[in-house]
Formats: sequence, C-alpha cells, structure tokens
Amino acid sequence: VTAAASAPIGVFDSGLGGLTVLRELLARLPNERFLYLGDTARLPYGSKSPETIRRYVEQNVDFLVKRGVKAVVVACNSASSALRPDDRWPVPVYEVIGPGTRAAVAATQSRRVAVFATRATVAGGAYAIRMRAAAPGITVVQEACPLLVPFVEEGMVDDPVTSEMVRRYMGGVLGGPGPEVDTLILGCTHYPLLEPLFRRLLGPGIALVDSGRSLSVEVAAEIAAGRLPAAPQGGPHPRVELLVTDVSDRTDELAARFLAPHRASPARLVDLG
Ligand code: DGL
Repeated sequence: VTAAASAPIGVFDSGLGGLTVLRELLARLPNERFLYLGDTARLPYGSKSPETIRRYVEQNVDFLVKRGVKAVVVACNSASSALRPDDRWPVPVYEVIGPGTRAAVAATQSRRVAVFATRATVAGGAYAIRMRAAAPGITVVQEACPLLVPFVEEGMVDDPVTSEMVRRYMGGVLGGPGPEVDTLILGCTHYPLLEPLFRRLLGPGIALVDSGRSLSVEVAAEIAAGRLPAAPQGGPHPRVELLVTDVSDRTDELAARFLAPHRASPARLVDLG
C-alpha cells in the first residue's frame, strides 16, 4: 500500500451542509478516511460573486492538498459552479454538478428537468449548460431558492413554513406550457435533508436527483476501477476529521445532524491564510 492510498480524501463545502455529501461517501466507501473542511467563516457562498467563490475554491483546494489528501471532493454546488473544464490541480478534484447532470439526463423521459439551487449556482447556469451539452434539446428550468438553506440550518426540515416555501418555489418550475418536468435536481448541499418534504409535495411521478449521492457513486466507481487508490482496510475511527474556519456553540450539533448516522471528530478551528 502506498502512502497516497492511505491518505484521506479531502472534502470541502462553504459550511456544514456538505456533510450530507460526505454521508453518502461514507456509506459507499467503508475503508476511506476523510478530511472535511467547512468554510463556516465565509458561508454562504451561494450569494457571492463568481470571482469571490473562485478565490475561495482555490484556497480550499490548496489548503487540503497541503494537508496531504489524495483527492478533493467539492461538495458545495456553488463552489462546483466555479470550476472550469481546463482546470489542472495537483490531485484529482471531483465536483457535484457533473454527476447530478448525468443522473438527471438518465432519469428524464419528458426531457424537461428542474434544478433547485442557490442564486450563484442558478446564475452561473452550470447544470443547464452541461445538461444541454449532454442531451441537446433538453429543457432545463432553474429556480434559485435562497431561503431554504437558513431554514434547514435551523432544523426546520419538517415544518409547515418550509413546506409552504418549497411549494412556492415549485410553482416557478412546475406546470406551464409544453411537456411536464419529470425530474428535479436537488442542487444544493442542504436540500437532501428536505427530500422527504419534496417527495411528499411532488408525489411519485417526479424523480428526485441528489447530486451528492450521484457524486458518491461516481467516486466509488473511480476507486473500484483503480483510477483513485483504495485505502487499506481498518483505518482509525471516527473516519472523519472535521475542520472549520469558524466555530460556534452550534457547530458540533449541526455537524452531527447533517452527518447522521455517521460521526466526526469534534470540530477543530483552522486558518486558511
Ligand atoms: N453549500 C452551498 C451549495 O451547495 C449552500 C450554502 C451556501 O450558499 O454556501 O450551493
């Protein structure tokens, strides 16, 4: 086993929401260790400019590479939107928009797909651009849902106010002329926690794509194919080291909620500078 194989996989997000992505990775990769960076000091990314988000992405990748990770997973959709096709990084970098796109293109029959995401992700149009490239003629309707992240952070995942808000956002993309949307992408780290609510409101006829879950399937396939070295069995526990750029008295509680049923080490404060 080489040193690179036993090195952790770095995962970063604007905050703790990306732990929903890490949860999927943990479920599919029982031997791997993870170094998670939550940039809580600068959250949210979803309301910031592409230039600022790009700068954050470069700093975060750089930080994780210096800590010796063997790959980086960009769990944040807004950050994934800031990656470019010609980017060259010192380690493999995986992001959530490609996998979410591929899952949605495979799922849709009506060829009309909705994307729910932050303002930054919607404004950049990365899901729409990539879906149209993969499946010419596909219709992509996007909806920025800036209010959902704070509600999820407050734990209001099963609440009539959140439900009403999701209903309103849905009003912008469902119905209308032409074929019906039959696939909806949850294009933000926090939305998987609202999956039961979405499911209830949408009924059984619309496929939900969780980009983080799709990404975890693709990373597991990369390891299975030997394109990313597999960790040896029986590493240290917990398998997640949690680093954040700001700590509050809610950090560990929120992390536990997003990562359940898995566990992380207590959050440790780091300086990206
Ligand atoms: N992690 C972000 C995303 O997936 C949501 C939170 C934020 O805006 O920073 O787009």
